[in-house]
Amino acid sequence: MEISTRAFCILLVLVLNAVKITLSVEDGLLYLDYYKETCPLAEEIVSRNVEIAVLKDPRMAASLLRLHFHDCFVMGCDASVLLDNYVDIISEKQAGPNLNSLRGFKVIDEIKYILEEACPLTVSCADILAMVARDAVALRGGPSWKVWLGRKDSLKASFDGANQFIPAPNSSLETLIANFNQQGLDVEDLVALSGSHTLGKARCLSFRQRVYDINVEEKHDKYRRYRTFRRILRSICPESGRDEAIAPLDFVTPAKFDNQYYINILEGNGLLGSDNVLVNEDHAGEIKKLVWAFASNQELFFRSFARSVVKMGNINVLTGVDGEIRKNCRFVNP
Ligand code: HEM
Ligand SMILES: *[C@@H]1O[C@H](CO)[C@@H](O)[C@H](O)[C@H]1NC(C)=O
Repeated sequence: MEISTRAFCILLVLVLNAVKITLSVEDGLLYLDYYKETCPLAEEIVSRNVEIAVLKDPRMAASLLRLHFHDCFVMGCDASVLLDNYVDIISEKQAGPNLNSLRGFKVIDEIKYILEEACPLTVSCADILAMVARDAVALRGGPSWKVWLGRKDSLKASFDGANQFIPAPNSSLETLIANFNQQGLDVEDLVALSGSHTLGKARCLSFRQRVYDINVEEKHDKYRRYRTFRRILRSICPESGRDEAIAPLDFVTPAKFDNQYYINILEGNGLLGSDNVLVNEDHAGEIKKLVWAFASNQELFFRSFARSVVKMGNINVLTGVDGEIRKNCRFVNP
C-alpha cells in the first residue's frame, strides 16, 4: 500500500514536470509578470519614464521602437545594441545601419538608473527595450500588448552582425523576405512590422536612391500625389549633399501610430525603397493583398502588429543562466 502511494507520487511529479517543461517551451522561455515578486514597479517605472521622454521629444517614440528591432535582429533580443566600445567590445552603434541614426540611448540609461535604485541587478536591459517599445507604440495611439519578460543581457556585441542582419533601405523584396526568414519571421511579420514606419523620420542618405530612381518614377508617375511627393522629397534631399536632412516616414500622419503607412505605399508614397517594394515587387500579389487588408482595416493591422512584435521579441533570447543582468546597459559587468 505504502509503496504504491509512493510510486503514484513519483509518477505525479514526473507528469507535472513534463507539463511544466512543455508550457515553458511553448511560451518561448519568457514569462508574463516576470518581475511581479522581484521588482513589482518595473513596468510602471518604465512606462512613466517613456511618457516623459516622449513628451519632451515626440520622435523618441519612434526611436525607442526601432531600438528594440535593431537589438533583436543582431544575436537576438539581448541588449547587445546598447553596448559601447570597451576593451574587446566593438559597439554595434557604429555599424552602418546604426551610425548617426539610432537614438534613445540616454532614455534607456535613465530608466535603467531608476530601476537600479528600485531593484538592483534585477531588470535586464533587453527587457527594458521590450517594455519601452510597447509603451512607445501605445503612447502614439497604437495597439498595446502584454510583454513577455525574463531576457538576459549579452556579454558581447556584434558589429559585423549589425552590418549583416539589419536590412538596408534599398533592399529588394526578395532580400527583405530572406532577411526576415533568417530571424524566424515570415512575410506577414515583414508586412506588419514594416508598419512601424508610420512613425519617425529618415535621413536623406536613406531615401535619396529611391527619390532619384528612374524605375520608381515609371511605376508611380500615374499618381499626381506621387509627383508632388517626389518634388517635395527632392527639395529636401538634393542629388548630392545634405545627407543628414530628414523627412517623415509617414508624411500624412507622422506623429500617429496608425495604418496610414499602408495607404501611402499603395499610392507609391512610401519614403524608403524598402517600403515601396512591398507593393511594387510583389508579383504574386499575396503581399499586396495583405497591404490592402491593413490599409482598409486598422484593427487588423494592430492585431497583426502586436502578434509580430511579440514574436520579434522572442528572437534568440538569453534566459536562465545564460547572459547576465547588466548594471549599466552600456557595459558588461566587471
Ligand atoms: C523591413 C525592413 C526595414 C528597413 C529596410 C528599415 C530601414 C529603416 C531606415 C533606413 C530608417 C531611417 C534611418 C535613418 O535614415 O536615420 C528607418 C527608420 C525607422 N524604422 Fe525601420 N526598417 C525596417 C524595418 C523596421 C522594423 C521591423 C521596425 C520596428 C519594429 C522599424 C522601425 C523604424 C522606426 C520607428 C524608424 C524611425 C526612427 C526614428 O525616427 O528615430 N523598422 N528604418
Ligand atoms: C544600396 O546602397 C548601398 C549604399 O549606399 C550601395 O552600396 C548598394 O550598391 C545599393 N544596392 C542596391 C541594390 O542598389
